This record gives sequence, structure tokens and C-alpha cells, in this order.
Amino acid sequence: MTDDLQALQAETNAALAAAADLRAWDAIRIAVLGRNGKLTALLRDMGKIPADQKRERGAALNRLKDALTEAVEARRRALENAELDARIAAEGIDPSLPPRPREIGLIHPISRTIEEIAAIFGAMGCTIAEGPDVESDWFNFTALNIPPHHPARADQDTFYLPAPKSSAGGNLPPPVLRTQTSPVQIRTMLTQKPPIRVIVIGRTYRADHDATHSPMFHQCEGLVIDRDLTLGHLKGTLIDFLRTFFGIADLPVRFRSSYFPFTEPSMEVDIGWNRRTGELGKGDDWLEILGSGMVHPRVLANCGIDPREWQGFAWGMGVERIAMLKHGITDLRPFFESDIRWLRHYGFSPLAPTMLHEGV
Ligand code: DAH
Repeated sequence: MTDDLQALQAETNAALAAAADLRAWDAIRIAVLGRNGKLTALLRDMGKIPADQKRERGAALNRLKDALTEAVEARRRALENAELDARIAAEGIDPSLPPRPREIGLIHPISRTIEEIAAIFGAMGCTIAEGPDVESDWFNFTALNIPPHHPARADQDTFYLPAPKSSAGGNLPPPVLRTQTSPVQIRTMLTQKPPIRVIVIGRTYRADHDATHSPMFHQCEGLVIDRDLTLGHLKGTLIDFLRTFFGIADLPVRFRSSYFPFTEPSMEVDIGWNRRTGELGKGDDWLEILGSGMVHPRVLANCGIDPREWQGFAWGMGVERIAMLKHGITDLRPFFESDIRWLRHYGFSPLAPTMLHEGV
């Protein structure tokens, strides 16, 4: 190799070694191998070389080109690796660590219970109706045959809201946080023509707080209106529901005469269990689980439905209560404390949704 070629090789290698980053490297690449680069110029000058030296000069230039191209590429790889190392060091990532376990959310027992109730009554032909949490006195009490001063009002520890003024200046009855889902029966009957089959699942409120009562809790209401409905339909519906929900095919169910202002006759529903062990379906004890009855003719009439043509049955139950019984949960308060350890224990996999054909 002639001196000028050796000089170019040495100079380029020194410059590459000194290039601290890919920017500096690229400038060298262009200055040597680019269209106006030094090596390119030497190749272009081949035309001026005397014929007897051409062969040797050409071969030397080609070797130099190969050597420089390789040196440039090698430096690029080295700089890229150094840049990656620096970035990994700066980001503090250790790519050799195993991946962290991925947290999967779980379905809260209340949501799960609501899904199960909806699946069972949905299969019986019920749709879901909804109503507001803040309810008027008329919907929550009066239309349900609980007039002002009726003793049944005192049974429920109602949260009252500030009373609005009437246009005449007097006080109207204060709105309430609904104490039951039953007002949605009224809303449904005022907006839908019978026959009606609905369930109502939602929040309800009472000023009560201990291990089995929360000021906010959930109820599931049901309302069926049709011609020729009897207590037999009511009993069959609720027995089927309870046996499916608890997954006990022969669960004993007892209907006990009771009183609700909005039903006549009214019945409390009990299931068989063992009070000592808490086991459901076994033992000689009875556990009250929900209220029910034939819709009072006055309630039908309040909603413009002729009680001589239509009958109805209805029921109401606490969602937390049946969830606690089904899963052996003894304290209601953790349902609403969002303690991740409790949720991990009692939560349900979102990948195993409620399916009736497997039993809920
Ligand atoms: N609303 C009642 C309560 O909160 C429960 C209830 C009983 C609802 C009987 C009904 C029913 O629809 O027919 O205690």
C-alpha cells in the first residue's frame, strides 16, 4: 500500500477510535466513504493513474475500501452496544430478573351475588328495573300502602333529606334515601302495562350499623303481575330460586304468615339450617331469609291497575344476607372496607362467570 493510502487508513482508524457517539461516527463515515469522501475521491482519481500502475493501485484501493468499511461497521456496533449499556444502567433495569406476577382483579361477592340473582330470575323471564336512590316519600311509603303516621314507617330507620317548600309555602314531605327497593315496583307499574315480570337490584339505606347491618346495603325485589296468579306461583318461584341459588336441590323452604303493608296475604320465607354449625339444608332450625306476598289490591289501584283483572306477587331480600349465608361470611362490615386481603379471600375469578347450566 502506498503512503497516501496507509495514511488514510491510519487517520480513519484514529478518528473512529476517538468518535464518542454515533453522531461523531456518522460524520467520519461520510468524510471517508460518502459521495464526497476521501476514499471515494481516490477511487475517482484512478482515471489519472498511468496505465502501468493501474492494476496495482486498483487492487490496493479495493483492499483499503474493504478494510475501512469493516472498521466503520465494527465501530458502529461497538458504539451501539455502549449506548444500550449506558441506557440500561441509567434506567436501573435489570433484564435478568424474572417478570413480576401480574395481579388479576377479582369480582366482589356483592357483584357476584347480583349476577347470580339476575341469572336465575332472568331465566324465569324477569327483566331488571331500576330506580333512584333518593326517593320521594310517596314512592317509598305512601304508594306502597304505608300512609303518613302508619306504624310501619317507624320500623325502618329512615335517612331523611331536607324538605322542599311547596308553592303554597308549606313543607312538603322530605325526600328519603330509599329504605327498600319496593318503590321501584310502583315506578314499574306506572310505566309498564301488565303482564309484568321484573326484578330490582340496588342500594338501600337505613340508619343502622353493626356486624350484620350497614347503613348502605343492597336489596333484590321482585314483582310479577299477571292474570290468575296465586300463592302457588309465588311459592314455586321462590323455592326454585332458593334451591338454585344455594345449590341445594332439596333445601327445605317454609312459608310463614306475616305482615307487610304492600302485600295481602304476606309471608316470611325461611330455609332449613343447622343453627349450631351454620350448615344450610341440614338440621332442624329455620332461618328467615326474605319477605313476600300477594300485591295488595290498594297498591295495584294506586298504580292504575285494576285488581279485579290482575293479580301480583312480590318479594324482597337482602343481597348481603344471602351472600353471607352462601359463603359463610359472618361479618357484614368488610364488604365495604375494600381490604384487599378480604377481597382476595372472598372474591371470584372474572374468568369463571356465572353460568346457570353449571349451577350458580
Ligand atoms: N320491602 C321489604 C323490606 O325492606 C321487603 C319486602 C317484603 C318486599 C315483602 C316485598 C314484599 O316486595 O312483598 O323489608
